[in-house]
Amino acid sequence: RIHPVILSGGAGVRLWPMSREQYPKQFLPLCSEHSMLQDTAGRVSDTALFADPLIVCNHEHRFVIAEQMRQAGNRKARIILEPVGRNTAAAAAVAALVVAEQDPDGQILLLPADHAIKDRPAFLQAVATASAAAASGLLTTFGIVPTAPETGYGYIRRGDAVKGHDGAFRVAAFVEKPPREQAERYLAEKSFYWNSGMFLLPVRQYLAELERWAPAVLEAARAALARGRSDLDFFRLDEDAFASSPNISIDYAVMERTEAAAVVPCSIGWTDVGAWSALWDIGDKDEAGNVCHGDSIAWDSRNCYARSEDGALVALLGMEDVVVVATEDAVLVAAKDRAQDIKPLVEHLKKQG
Ligand code: GDD
Ligand code: MG
Repeated sequence: RIHPVILSGGAGVRLWPMSREQYPKQFLPLCSEHSMLQDTAGRVSDTALFADPLIVCNHEHRFVIAEQMRQAGNRKARIILEPVGRNTAAAAAVAALVVAEQDPDGQILLLPADHAIKDRPAFLQAVATASAAAASGLLTTFGIVPTAPETGYGYIRRGDAVKGHDGAFRVAAFVEKPPREQAERYLAEKSFYWNSGMFLLPVRQYLAELERWAPAVLEAARAALARGRSDLDFFRLDEDAFASSPNISIDYAVMERTEAAAVVPCSIGWTDVGAWSALWDIGDKDEAGNVCHGDSIAWDSRNCYARSEDGALVALLGMEDVVVVATEDAVLVAAKDRAQDIKPLVEHLKKQG
């Protein structure tokens, strides 16, 4: 069985005002009636295929996560607490070490807690393909056909087919977050995929590659586990040990460097729910292309995203490509094509107090 590892570390700043530091986007029901964390766990709940999930998260979110797992009927999730965030290479290292202890030949399926996947059967099919490729020692990624020159994603160039594994290819190059012009070239070349941010990793190989390319991360993860302690149902990593890890993502630390990587191209209705424009993309639209949530209406408007939480009625008139999100204590009105730029705005607001 595959060991699912759910990473919940992001702050989701671009989904302000709904996503807040204490209660970031992965805990909100943004794409369905369940939170994205619950949807993520639900995707890997088939016990014939998957072991109980391991969740790696910031310690401040421990009770929200435990409660959401309980609500979803998943009482067996193990929750590992990070005293500080050290990015995904370290979080994955901790998970790989924990799994390796019981199952040294095991595989982990790293899943970001904040992605939407519409086609679950296709997702499970891709996982099966990836697991077969990973069994031959390859760090396996899931490739999404790119539709725009996004600079916030990793790009994977497809190499030769992995022998004996239909649907899996060697990674010829992995480029994390290229500059715009490079992304445009990749988009035109057609042999590139976006890295989905999910990984199927044989733990032995992941730890060996980490040892080779980022030994300080591995050492910190080991020490943080050895000196950590159980606390209620949680496991707390040791703060000093974990904080000594370099702050680096698995993409930069390992995937850009390793030669033992594969990609499984897949079409699974994947979206990185990063900004309001993404929620508009995947939302149910009216004839004029508006997505309206809660008590909201878009009158004589086109391609807008309107969302009301906590009761206020939101009404748009004669608007185009606009995002309006109203919560109890804040209202965002933004041009849809500026939805990526909310971070500096929120930072400014924070400074003002
Ligand atoms: N536990 C934990 N601790 N989780 C973390 C941490 C951390 O310190 N940092 C990030 N995460 C979680 C985030 O919550 C998210 O679910 C996932 O790990 C990926 O981190 P992001 O910060 O969202 O990465 P990204 O979106 O910039 O880039 C990654 O995802 C892209 C696709 O969405 C990369 O893998 C790219 O190559 C990829 O294209
Ligand atoms: Mg992300």
